[in-house]
Amino acid sequence: MASVIIAGVGSYAPARVLTNRELAMTVDTSDEWIFSRSGIRERRIAADDEACSDLALKAATTALADAKMSAAEIDLLIVATTSPDQPLPSTACIVQHKLGVPAHATCFDIAAACSGFLYALEIAYGQLLTNRYKRALIIGAEKLSSVTDWNDRTTCVLFGDAAGAAVLTKVAQPDIGILGSDLGADGKFADNLYIPAGGSRRPTSTKSVAERGHFIRMNGREVFKSAVRVMETVAREMMEQHHLTPDQISLMIPHQANIRIIESLASSLNMPMEKVYVNLDRYGNTSSASIPLALDEARRSGRIKPGDLTLLVAFGAGLTYGATLIRW
Ligand code: ACO
Repeated sequence: MASVIIAGVGSYAPARVLTNRELAMTVDTSDEWIFSRSGIRERRIAADDEACSDLALKAATTALADAKMSAAEIDLLIVATTSPDQPLPSTACIVQHKLGVPAHATCFDIAAACSGFLYALEIAYGQLLTNRYKRALIIGAEKLSSVTDWNDRTTCVLFGDAAGAAVLTKVAQPDIGILGSDLGADGKFADNLYIPAGGSRRPTSTKSVAERGHFIRMNGREVFKSAVRVMETVAREMMEQHHLTPDQISLMIPHQANIRIIESLASSLNMPMEKVYVNLDRYGNTSSASIPLALDEARRSGRIKPGDLTLLVAFGAGLTYGATLIRW
């Protein structure tokens, strides 16, 4: 029996810290409102000359070093992002070139918003398990500051920039690494979180730019309700499928969107907050980068030990969602 393991993890967050207090100088908000409604204190903002692929590259380099592998060994490269460098080509191809991943590798982007990293993990897991590829590099990378409307206080206080990456490989040992994954999507909620223009429905025009159509629009309350419901369901189902109870999970890493969503999820699963990883106070919501960034921090700070069971749980625009169970 073989398993697919996460052999290395890495992350990167830009140096520039934007605090709630600084934001309150440009939009009508306050540190108190943002922190009490979301749990966010500050977020990182990429430099003007830093694109999504630059963040991805730094996270990938750290993940490869952690796995003690070189880019030349990678034959599958997936970038999950909602803020790619440009519409064409994929950010994965740009990262491939910058990183030195060989030309025979398969490289592509996926769009599953904040669930993107778990979607990439599931795709890579299946491909490695069936021997189609040997070593996969998966990256969640976002420069959300480039699609954030800095005049809209209902969204701009929530998002940040970062990247996280993982290297996957197959080992002969059973019952280790990715034990299971469950993904889903419900497109009837698509209008609750979207970017209206810049695609084939509303191509870029002077009108679309004037209407600020290239920025994220969100119905926060509806997203909040859906998030709590789908995360609880998918996390519970993942544990049931593996005959596990919450006390057997060493650490849950939920998508870092809002502390109230995370606390509600933990409470409904009967999981104490000490077993839930939270770093959104320092980074805000970094979409597809959020889970690998938290995973990297958790591992480097000693929160994950050999034999531990970790449950990753995500939701995002689409509405997409997913849960992945990992034994280290
Ligand atoms: N500062 C001050 N006041 C504000 C701000 C702000 N930044 N934003 C909104 N308000 C006001 C509103 O205008 C409203 O005022 P009103 O009552 O006079 O109309 C009031 O605060 C309450 O607004 P609500 O939207 O009801 O606030 P809520 O408690 O729902 O919190 C929030 C808003 C934080 C956005 C919450 O709904 C949320 O987190 N939703 C989930 C969002 C999310 O997770 N998005 C990420 C999805 S993942 C992805 O794919 C990117």
